[in-house]
Amino acid sequence: MTEDFEYWIKYHQERVENFMMKFIKEETSNSLIHEVCRYASLNGGKRFRALLSYAIGESNQTDKIILDHIAAAIEFIHAYSLIHDDLPSMDNDNLRRGKLTSHIKFDEAQAILAGDALQSIAFQILSTPSFPIENEKKVKIIHILSNAIGVNGMVKGQSLDMENTSKIINKKELQILQNLKTGLLFNATGAISQLGIDTTANKDNTTICNFCTLLGKIYQITDDILDYESNDQTLGKTSGKDKKDNKFTYISLLGIEEAKKINLTYFKDMKKIINSIPGNTIYLEKLATKIYERNY
Ligand code: IPE
Ligand code: IPE
Ligand code: MG
Ligand code: MG
Ligand code: MG
Repeated sequence: MTEDFEYWIKYHQERVENFMMKFIKEETSNSLIHEVCRYASLNGGKRFRALLSYAIGESNQTDKIILDHIAAAIEFIHAYSLIHDDLPSMDNDNLRRGKLTSHIKFDEAQAILAGDALQSIAFQILSTPSFPIENEKKVKIIHILSNAIGVNGMVKGQSLDMENTSKIINKKELQILQNLKTGLLFNATGAISQLGIDTTANKDNTTICNFCTLLGKIYQITDDILDYESNDQTLGKTSGKDKKDNKFTYISLLGIEEAKKINLTYFKDMKKIINSIPGNTIYLEKLATKIYERNY
């Protein structure tokens, strides 16, 4: 299964990449802003959010075309968030996915605009007539995703992250911040993937969403641990940046060992939840373990 799973990952990474490419492909989209969009969203990234969507689909052998739309939309949103996260006025990073960040490679104006454009491409994909689900579901999906990434979601989390740089907040506030900036996109991935593939109306998404929420928590703590312990080459981004910038993380609050203990507790809780998800959960379990154990 390990070899099969590695094949599964590679297949789906390429699949979402090819699907994303269609919306900004070189042959038909020949302008500077298209080039910046391609640079920032293609050829890179672990595609874990897309893989989560496809793994949810494995529970009931869904039409993968539906998941292509959802996975690509999520990855475009994620890519937009990374461009803006790296800007001089935010984390001021010059390395992303092993390459120069977009504002260094091009310029700040083009980077900001590419972020804006990638966000709108995501909603274009979810509202396009060729997305083969009912219009009512499309509206629900767009509603869930826009809530998760906006002023009450990811953007708020990023705002708190900036506001709290060099400040001391408590554990509860840190949990809220990390859930907003990273967790809600994972949660939305779960909710909209489940909604996209459900043939029965109003199926209860709670268990999948709880699983994804924990996965999001693990995702950000692991990112913070790797920032502390790893190096630029392995990560493909600047290591040691959180400490240098006085970012508030589990490590700055409780130390590296305690941060790892909390991550392990979340991981064990998540494994218990997987047991209560119906259908084939082997891909979800493998993916969750890979996310927890990743080294970049
Ligand atoms: C980095 O995300 C930002 C976080 C929310 C932690 P990823 O580590 O998923 O970045 P890519 O997509 O693989 O580059
Ligand atoms: C980024 O968190 C979260 C979002 C982009 C929403 P980080 O600032 O920790 O991500 P990296 O470490 O730069 O990838
Ligand atoms: Mg940041
Ligand atoms: Mg950053
Ligand atoms: Mg980080």
